[in-house]
Amino acid sequence: MTAVGIDAIEIWSGKLKLDLPNTFAPVKGDDPEKYTKGLGLEDSSFPDTYEDIVTMGANAAKQLMDRKGLKPSDIGRIDVATESAFDHSKPVSTYIAGCLEQVYDGDFRHANKGERKFACVAGTQSIDDAYNWIKAGRNRGRAALVVATDTALYARGDPGEATQGAGAVAMLITEEPSIVELSTEQGYGSMDETDFLKPNQQFPSVDGKRSMQVYLARMREALEDFESVAWDTHPEDFEYIPFHTPFPGMVRKAGLLGFRHMIRDTEIEDELEPEIGRQPRETDFESREAFEEAIRAHMDELKRTDRYQSWYADTIAPTLELSRRVGNWYTGSVHIARASALRHAAANGTDLVGQKLLVGSYGSGAQAEIHAETVRDGWKEEIEGLNIDDQLESRYDLTWSEYELVHDVHEYDKETDIDVEEFTQPSGEFVFTGWGRMNE
Ligand code: CAA
Repeated sequence: MTAVGIDAIEIWSGKLKLDLPNTFAPVKGDDPEKYTKGLGLEDSSFPDTYEDIVTMGANAAKQLMDRKGLKPSDIGRIDVATESAFDHSKPVSTYIAGCLEQVYDGDFRHANKGERKFACVAGTQSIDDAYNWIKAGRNRGRAALVVATDTALYARGDPGEATQGAGAVAMLITEEPSIVELSTEQGYGSMDETDFLKPNQQFPSVDGKRSMQVYLARMREALEDFESVAWDTHPEDFEYIPFHTPFPGMVRKAGLLGFRHMIRDTEIEDELEPEIGRQPRETDFESREAFEEAIRAHMDELKRTDRYQSWYADTIAPTLELSRRVGNWYTGSVHIARASALRHAAANGTDLVGQKLLVGSYGSGAQAEIHAETVRDGWKEEIEGLNIDDQLESRYDLTWSEYELVHDVHEYDKETDIDVEEFTQPSGEFVFTGWGRMNE
């Protein structure tokens, strides 16, 4: 059977940086460790005044097309996943195609364009759409371009403000891909939830604590569903497990849940129970609250075991290296986590060919999706082509008052007397110069 999966990845970060421990925490009167240790974040990438989801997505896509030497006629489909669309009718992919047509010979008239929205899981859903299109044999030898692009901004003062971020991930989905082959099997956990909503408003109304519980519940269901069609997973089956990463602290919880779920009961009994005791059984407790409290204490003990600590350090921590520095990119976030793990392996000379990844995507509202990926023999060359480290190093470090000003510029309904044309705009990339107009 022909392998289908991700052939190339390019990442485009927002050009500004908000330093959480040194700039954000002092203004909020918080201990910087709430951000660095609690949420697990150092910085967030923030969009400059001339950046939006279209410019970042188009820049990531152009970088990918240039590196792979592609022409518009090589691409039969452009899918954009975003939680930050500004237009309720025209898909963002049409704007991105319009930008790309300004710089390439040829156009995308022949390409099927769409937009996927289901909070952060939409990036993975777009990859699934592309996968199905190729597997169905409808692609006529062409590749699919998937762009996950978001400005994940919250209202100022919202608890989510610490987890903001902005950037785009462009991915090329092809037959016989260079980076990873996707598994046919998928698992889902999906339920009608109202943890994160934007009813006719730019910034989300989010029930933060509840959203974390919903994330974990749906992820556990998706893992069980995946096991029902694929195989009974075991923690050591996977070299890395990239999860959707709204902030690394969330993935610490997801990692522990996944580890406890995947580890065999016999291993718990033989290896871990002598150290941490028997897992509490509900029948041993008089109330549900007492049982849940005992489970929490048991999980805390499990987290402290050497077995868990070294598994987490090897399998989960490498997926968080980029997220710690960029914050939440919504639809791009799980794809940043995968890229982060592969970048870590390339830097450490790890041979990944044939190794498996388990990818856990999640979108509020709510749906989790689990699938496996097998690393292909071109992965290292592709990942070494990323310039994300240079991009992150060259971000402009915002002061607090600059942050407030740029946040105001991005707020659609805010009346300001700021003239964005006063700000310098870079050349050689797509920038936002006014409604519906992109220039290179
Ligand atoms: N040192 C070390 N750790 C500290 C600390 C300190 N001085 N102070 C606090 N902490 C820890 C806390 O104990 C907590 O960790 P635990 O959860 O492990 O207990 C962590 O830092 C965060 O502290 P708070 O819970 O007090 O933080 P908060 O209430 O201000 O906000 C939040 C946290 C609710 C997640 C908020 O950032 C938020 O609303 N974020 C947006 C919603 C979100 O990202 N949800 C995630 C799931 S939904 C999803 O994934 C979809 C999506 O992308 C939005």
